[in-house]
Amino acid sequence: MAEDVLDTKAHREDDEESLRPASFDEYVGQNDLKENLRIFVSAAKKRDESLDHVLLYGPPGLGKTTMAMIIAHEMGAGIKIVTAPAIDKTGDLVAILTSLSPGDVLFIDEIHRLNKVVEEVLYPAMEDYCVDVMIGKETPRSVRIDLPPFTLVGATTRAGDLSAPLRDRFGIVSKLDYYNDEDLTKIISRTSRVYDFAMDDDAKYELARRSRGTPRIANRLFRRVRDFAQFYDDDHISLARTQEALDRLKVDNLGLDDVDRRYLLGIINRYGGGPVGLDALAASIGEESVTLEDVYEPYLLQKGLVKRTHRGRIATQLAYDHFHITREFEE
Ligand SMILES: Nc1ncnc2c1ncn2[C@@H]1O[C@H](COP(=O)(O)OP(=O)(O)OP(=O)(O)O)[C@@H](O)[C@H]1O
Ligand SMILES: [Mg+2]
Repeated sequence: MAEDVLDTKAHREDDEESLRPASFDEYVGQNDLKENLRIFVSAAKKRDESLDHVLLYGPPGLGKTTMAMIIAHEMGAGIKIVTAPAIDKTGDLVAILTSLSPGDVLFIDEIHRLNKVVEEVLYPAMEDYCVDVMIGKETPRSVRIDLPPFTLVGATTRAGDLSAPLRDRFGIVSKLDYYNDEDLTKIISRTSRVYDFAMDDDAKYELARRSRGTPRIANRLFRRVRDFAQFYDDDHISLARTQEALDRLKVDNLGLDDVDRRYLLGIINRYGGGPVGLDALAASIGEESVTLEDVYEPYLLQKGLVKRTHRGRIATQLAYDHFHITREFEE
C-alpha cells in the first residue's frame, strides 16, 4: 500500500479531469517555463501562426500532459493525444498527421519510445509540414502530402534518450522541476476546493512537504487523507489527522517511500555508503535500473540524499542523518 500511494505513475483515479488546471493562470509553479510559453503563445497568435514545436521533459507527475493541454487551450486549438509506443507503423503516424486541423496540437507522450522508422516521418512533418508516402505495389513511387501547420508537443521522462535530429527539431525545449512546498500547498488548496472538503493550512503544508515535490502524489495523498478524515466523521482535515494518515501510509517526513528507503539503506548497509554502480545497487534491492534512474534518483539527488559520481552512487551525510545511522568511517 505504501508503495502504491507514492507511485508516480498515473492510475485510474488520477484521471480526474476536474483537478487539471485548464489555463496558464490556474497552473501553479514552473514559473520560468510558464512565463516563456505565455510569451511564445501570445506572439504566435499575433502572427496568426501555429506555435513552434515544444518538448517537455522531467520526472513523472509534474504536469507535462497538463501543460500540453493548456498550450492547446491557450492557442484556441484542438489537441490530439497519442503515446509513442502505440504508433507502430509509419502509416499510423501519417493517418494521425493528415487528420489534424490547421493549428492543432499533436501531443506525443513518451516520445523517446518512438521507433526509428516512424520517427523519420516526423522530421519533414515538423520542418516543412509534409510527409512522403510510397504508393503503388508494382512500381512504387513516392508522393508528397502537404499537412496543415500544427504544433508537436512531445513529453518524455528521458530527454537524453531522444535522438539528436528529433531533439533539434523542437524550437522550445523545457524542463519541468519538482515543485517547492509553497507551490504544492497552493495545488493542495485548489484540490481541497475542487473536492469541496476543507483542510487546515498547517495540514496542507504538512501534506505538501511529504508529497515528493509532485502534484500527482499531492492529489493522491489528499484523497487518502480525506478517506481517513471521513472515516472518523471529521468535517475537515486537521494536521493531526494528516500526520496520522501519512504515518500509516508509511510516507516519511521527507516524503520518501519504501523504494527510496531501500535504495538509500542499500547503499549504506550493503556498500558501506558507496560508491556503488547503479546496476549492482538495483540488482541488490530488486528494482530496475531505469526505474531508479528516471523515477527515484531525481528526487533523492535534488534532496541531496545521494550523490552521483563517476565511481557510482554515494549516500550523503544527510541520508545517514535521516535514518539516524552513525557512519563507521569518515570519507
Ligand atoms: N502546475 C500544476 N498545478 C496544479 N495541478 C497540477 C499541476 N501540474 C500537475 N497537476 C496535477 O497533477 C496531475 C498529474 O499531472 P500530469 O498528468 O500533467 O503529469 P505528467 O508530467 O504528464 O506525468 P507523466 O510523466 O506520468 O505523464 C494532473 O492531473 C493535475 O491534476
Ligand atoms: Mg503525462
